[in-house]
Amino acid sequence: MSNYHIKHLEEYYQVYRKSVREPENFWEEVAEEHFLWYKKWDNVLSWDFKKPEVKWFEGAKLNITVNCIDRHLTTNADKTAILFEPNNPEEAAEHITYKQLHKRVCQFANVLKDKGVAKGDRVCIYLPMIPELAIATLACARIGAVHSVVFAGFSATALATRINDSDCKMVITSDGSYRGAKTIDLKGIVDEALNECPCVDSVLVVKRINSDINMKAGRDEWVQPLLENASKDCNPEVMDAEDPLFILYTSGSTGMPKGMVHTTAGYMVYTAYTFKNVFQYKEGDVYWCTADIGWITGHSYIVYGPLANGATTVMFEGVPSYPDFGRFWDIVEKHKVNQFYTAPTAIRALAKEGLEVVEKYNLSSLKVLGSVGEPINEEAWHWYNDNIGKKQSPIVDTWWQTETGGIMITPIPFATPTKPTYATLPFPGIQPALMDEEGQELTKNQVTGRLCIKFPWPSMARTIWGNHQRYKDTYFSAFENKYFTGDGALRDEVGYYRITGRVDDVIIVSGHNLGTAPIEDAVNEHPAVAESAIVGFPHDIKGNALYGYVILKDVGEGRVHDNLRKEINQIITEHIGPIAKLDKIQFTKGLPKTRSGKIMRRILRKIASNDTSNLGDTSTLLNPEVVQDIMDNVL
Ligand code: PRX
Repeated sequence: MSNYHIKHLEEYYQVYRKSVREPENFWEEVAEEHFLWYKKWDNVLSWDFKKPEVKWFEGAKLNITVNCIDRHLTTNADKTAILFEPNNPEEAAEHITYKQLHKRVCQFANVLKDKGVAKGDRVCIYLPMIPELAIATLACARIGAVHSVVFAGFSATALATRINDSDCKMVITSDGSYRGAKTIDLKGIVDEALNECPCVDSVLVVKRINSDINMKAGRDEWVQPLLENASKDCNPEVMDAEDPLFILYTSGSTGMPKGMVHTTAGYMVYTAYTFKNVFQYKEGDVYWCTADIGWITGHSYIVYGPLANGATTVMFEGVPSYPDFGRFWDIVEKHKVNQFYTAPTAIRALAKEGLEVVEKYNLSSLKVLGSVGEPINEEAWHWYNDNIGKKQSPIVDTWWQTETGGIMITPIPFATPTKPTYATLPFPGIQPALMDEEGQELTKNQVTGRLCIKFPWPSMARTIWGNHQRYKDTYFSAFENKYFTGDGALRDEVGYYRITGRVDDVIIVSGHNLGTAPIEDAVNEHPAVAESAIVGFPHDIKGNALYGYVILKDVGEGRVHDNLRKEINQIITEHIGPIAKLDKIQFTKGLPKTRSGKIMRRILRKIASNDTSNLGDTSTLLNPEVVQDIMDNVL
């Protein structure tokens, strides 16, 4: 039996059992059968969650781009690797074959080399969803440079923080980007960020919107002319299994974003294996994940996982609402998409537009539907199942994280019976545990607890760039010898998992992870603000929206408040990006605090969510009187 392709439930259980009983044999077989290695490993796995240190396939030598591109050239050179759908539906889609991708990645890699980028150097990529984003990413991997892709919706300040944290020497960007009817001045944002980034000595600029931009002499260069003159061949750098492949930042409970470091071999094996099974990809299928490559979903399931399987992966530049709310379905019909992977927030936004916009399109090509990024509520699940999948296409509700690198808990379509709002069963190799507040594992079914993973898997992040202690404190200290996810979950009577949401100070808004601390830091920058506390509250479309409680230094006249609200959101936009704007801002005289001075967010969350029937124990508060005042003035 091949472990690689699971087709029915009994097979899943067999493979799963083997992956737990003999994890090393299991992963060794997967790695041996399906990838190209310059040299195989000396040791499949060594690990110690106390340090923590995890190494997979130690001693192996490889290059991930050889697995994602070169090896398909013998059989699939003319197959479309990347199918680019531009923002403007009138502009022709671009089919980039594996052969063309090979050439373009090699040329880009040679330009990087010419510019002095070498193995181990960090390169920041700040690009919209255009082919060059995937190509630049792969070009870094080709030469062993560590890419740090920053989502092109982040502000200059957020970009600068990320560039400096990992000491990037180069930034790859574009003159601007298209987003629906709007254009965004990306290069302007980069210029502003680079005022704060002495580590960057060169900027490569992709021409996309033909805007008039500032090019700093000696630093900035248009990339297209350089590419035209670059050689079409580039020998892949021979990488060690545990050499870093990329850094990707994710929000944490405290100020600085965490630069999660993913390494080469384990990440490749796991993303490829999960892609194959979770989407049941078959030769000739067209697969589309609507995420942005600026997030982990795009890294693992637009670029690496699909390409490692020789798939056709769609890259969409635009937004679901442009030119109208039928755009997603128009693309599904136009490119005969077979697997469609999106976020619940998009499903809810599209469901709100009614069925007329869906019914215009032929969606019969769809075979598997995916959901990721936040819990999918029952209503959205049914709408997706009934109207998009026509009850024929199983929904894979995939739970995972930037830190996990790949999908962890998920149905396997056509094998695992789905259940609305449940991510269902652990993927082979994943050993979840639910823990109670005292740190004991809950071993029975029908329990709720904190979700941990008790055994390493190949694509787990190995550290936080430059801060291993924070990696240990955040993920390996809450529960002994276990990776703590930060999520709560319940396990039902048959062992299916349902993710209930974050149990820390991270709030998921429209599928984006936002830490409360950096937003509070931004709000507190406003000269009129003394203190602030941000919490989430339920929102029909976004899943959660942000509610800010703000104490002003001098309360002043009521009418200045509207301006202040705008100014506060403006500061957030500048420091983080528009995704972190507050939906509601309540000015208040005080915040409920414990005697040790900690803000009791639990109470603030309940008030913001209009759920004040039981506020729980407020007796430990230093200032219980502010609670009533906050409740009286809730927005
Ligand atoms: O809370 C979980 C939620 O998203 C968090 C991870 O966010 P991020 O690192 O940005 O990665 C998102 C894409 C993988 C998790 O800790 N989450 C992700 N998928 C699901 C989910 N919550 C419920 N159900 C899911 N399917």
